[in-house]
Amino acid sequence: MQGYILGISCGYHDSAAALIKDGKVLGAVEEERFTGIKHDSSFPINTINWLYKEFKISGKDISSVAFYDNPKKKLDRIEKSVKRGPLTELFNRGKILKRNKEKYKLFESQIYNITNDNIQLYYCDHHLSHAAYSFYTSPYDKASILSVDGVGEWETTTLWYGEGNKISKLQQIDFPHSLGMLYSAFTAFLGFKPNEGEYKVMGLAPYGDPKKFLNKFRKLYTLTDDGGFELNMEYFTYDWSDTHMFNEKLGKLLGIPNRLPEDNLNQPHKDLSATLQHEYEFLFFRLVDRLFSLRASNTLCLSGGCAYNGTANGKILEKSNFKNVWIPPAPSDAGSAIGAALHVYFENGGTQRQDNKSPYLGPYYSNEDVEKALEELELDVWFEKKQHSEIIPIISKEITEGNVVGWFEGKMEFGSRALGNRSILANPCDPQMKARVNRVIKKREGFRPFAPMVKAEEQTKFFDYKKDVPYMNQVVPVKEEWRDKLPAITHIDGSARIQSVTHQQHRRIHQLLSQLHKDNGFPIVLNTSFNLKDQTMVLDPKTAIETFLDCEMDTLVIHNYIIKKKIL
Ligand SMILES: [Fe+2]
Repeated sequence: MQGYILGISCGYHDSAAALIKDGKVLGAVEEERFTGIKHDSSFPINTINWLYKEFKISGKDISSVAFYDNPKKKLDRIEKSVKRGPLTELFNRGKILKRNKEKYKLFESQIYNITNDNIQLYYCDHHLSHAAYSFYTSPYDKASILSVDGVGEWETTTLWYGEGNKISKLQQIDFPHSLGMLYSAFTAFLGFKPNEGEYKVMGLAPYGDPKKFLNKFRKLYTLTDDGGFELNMEYFTYDWSDTHMFNEKLGKLLGIPNRLPEDNLNQPHKDLSATLQHEYEFLFFRLVDRLFSLRASNTLCLSGGCAYNGTANGKILEKSNFKNVWIPPAPSDAGSAIGAALHVYFENGGTQRQDNKSPYLGPYYSNEDVEKALEELELDVWFEKKQHSEIIPIISKEITEGNVVGWFEGKMEFGSRALGNRSILANPCDPQMKARVNRVIKKREGFRPFAPMVKAEEQTKFFDYKKDVPYMNQVVPVKEEWRDKLPAITHIDGSARIQSVTHQQHRRIHQLLSQLHKDNGFPIVLNTSFNLKDQTMVLDPKTAIETFLDCEMDTLVIHNYIIKKKIL
């Protein structure tokens, strides 16, 4: 297939665009990184403009556009769904459908506006986009593929087999029976924002007793003979409402009212989170086993928003027959921009399975850009340019002594996780560090854990997990003897969401981890994304410096510059 393929994902949450040429992903960014609006769902015009500028092309060079879902099928589902609503919702039914129809019409005209009239526009089924992203970016030629999310058009869960350049569907579960929607409905019930607060519920789960609500919870679904499940829709309303996910019967069944965002978090909320996570894993592993029984292979490729459930993911190798697990850096809808484009490439005669593993697909800024930003803010900061070999020992010493360091380099990461290019780093051994990072920088709920980066060669000494975790998508046990010594990254249940860092994946972080090993005995560093509460990850040097000045971070490293605050 000739020319460039533009992949687009937008309209629901985490909009993104990606550019593909000859099967190679050249670049991909979430739109939120440009607009600063978390989970921005708007048409990714800023990302597309950046892709054009970065790769020196224009809309005339695009041969095909791959959109990450199928509007016709999606509108069909929305039309049928809203009809399930009560008669008093009649007016809203019309509004919901009209709004969605208009949204897709607008996207289509925007696509032609930013490309050309001769493009081939492909609408790729949503779960196929997810499956294609995880399989085609994996290093595996054959794999079983599982995609689990809220909902695409009709599908909420799909089971696939991939070989070479082809993916075939084996089974599906349709709306409203959805693991993603179940998790989001409980996220809402527990007073958090759906599509955002699921991490908080996952973080809360280890504080609770999963048995407390188990019997009641099991009234919410029935198991089907094909490895799937059906939700009892007596308790949920998301199948017809676009604003509410559950009804008052859910609280009555559970015996507790739904929590409001400002309410205290009490033990029943923790117990309910624990039950939800427990039951998610129960249903998820039935699907994993079902997939293996349908088409056995060594490898499981996982995608869809639920692939961010690191707690379940960390148990796949232990609890299933799969020997390898591949979860790409952006398994949620953002990654589907890449998935849809790669699917279109292979469907139209493309043959080259390129190495598309890198998560570093976003904007890069030169030293000149850094200097310009520093000049603009020179009244507030002091800086020094150093050789890379000089920076590593200085920063290792700072981290060891308890300083919190902003770390900015290279191309921005694609996906929700900071993987060493837009990160905040700190000492995982310091018992006060979790509270300090939370208090002065992230301002997150105190119960949420921070994640560690670990030098891949030393991983098994500290963690009970033998395989590499390149994108921080698996939660694994911290070995018993190290838990007390790594308090800032060890969760209450003795687990940690690790990133294994190899020299090949990230040379500078790998060197930093080696230096830390020498300096304090731990080749491990606390790593959290470079942003303040409710902000998106910093994009450019200027935003990085401004963010640094806005909080109590001690030191900032951008490329070869070590930056400190001027004390006025
Ligand atoms: Fe999705």
